[in-house]
Amino acid sequence: MQLHGHSAVISGGASGLGLATAQRLAAAGMRVVIADLQDDVGHAAAAQCGGVFVRCDVTQADQVEAAVQAAQALAPLRVAVSCAGIAPAARTLGKQGPHALDVFQRVIDINLVGSFNLARLAAATMAQQPPLEDGERGVIINTASVAAFDGQIGQVAYAASKAGIVGMTLPLARDLARDGIRVMTIAPGIFETPMLRGMPPEVQTALGQMVPFPQRLGRPAEYAELVEAIISNRMLNGEVIRLDGAIRMQPK
Ligand SMILES: NC(=O)c1ccc[n+]([C@@H]2O[C@H](COP(=O)([O-])OP(=O)(O)OC[C@H]3O[C@@H](n4cnc5c(N)ncnc54)[C@H](O)[C@@H]3O)[C@@H](O)[C@H]2O)c1
Repeated sequence: MQLHGHSAVISGGASGLGLATAQRLAAAGMRVVIADLQDDVGHAAAAQCGGVFVRCDVTQADQVEAAVQAAQALAPLRVAVSCAGIAPAARTLGKQGPHALDVFQRVIDINLVGSFNLARLAAATMAQQPPLEDGERGVIINTASVAAFDGQIGQVAYAASKAGIVGMTLPLARDLARDGIRVMTIAPGIFETPMLRGMPPEVQTALGQMVPFPQRLGRPAEYAELVEAIISNRMLNGEVIRLDGAIRMQPK
């Protein structure tokens, strides 16, 4: 799909992987909507991309619909990328007792239900667009994690939420095939985002050295590069791509 002249909505676009995606898609000629909870940085990022910031909690149907409509108001909506996510760590049975149920439910709600919420609402608007080559109308990209496959100690909620994203990839693609909408999932390894950059340099170096090759943390721009490649290549559909330098996470 040609990016120029179309719009994209990016949840979690105020930071990290989502921000790099917004910047890359804007540089390729797309109009972007950054849908995030972080007002201050979100507005600044959107202004820098020539786009629009919409304050949006991905778990809320009306707020996600407002973000989708804001994108459609800029240009025909063809791309939705889910990058909003949280990753609190807790063991199933910790020193303070069993894992808090509300924390588990919150992680599932934001990471999994939030991704589905954007996918279903973006699909409804994409399905109304005139078809492009091969009848294509749009592309939805979700963000899982290698934790979906190699969840570590303390990642039970996070890994479950990301495994849910992996599991819904094929049925979403099958459901939306008749509308010409593709669905793909990226499962990143360890990427250098604000969360990681807050760690001491020696911890960052140690994490990077766990990656077989290249022996470093992934760069948000490399995630964004894959987003653009997925959008461009119409044969990519219903699949999960690990973007991880061949890392396989150990129990801890
Ligand atoms: N950084 C990594 O190493 C890594 C690895 C694997 C997967 N991921 C996944 O990639 C995605 C992006 O991660 P990141 O590292 O860029 O993190 P980040 O913290 O830099 O960005 C996440 C963004 O999501 C937003 N957000 C959180 N809850 C939200 C909600 N309810 N509604 C709307 N926005 C919300 C935050 O405000 C933030 O701007 C996440 O889903 C994360 O799980 C990251």
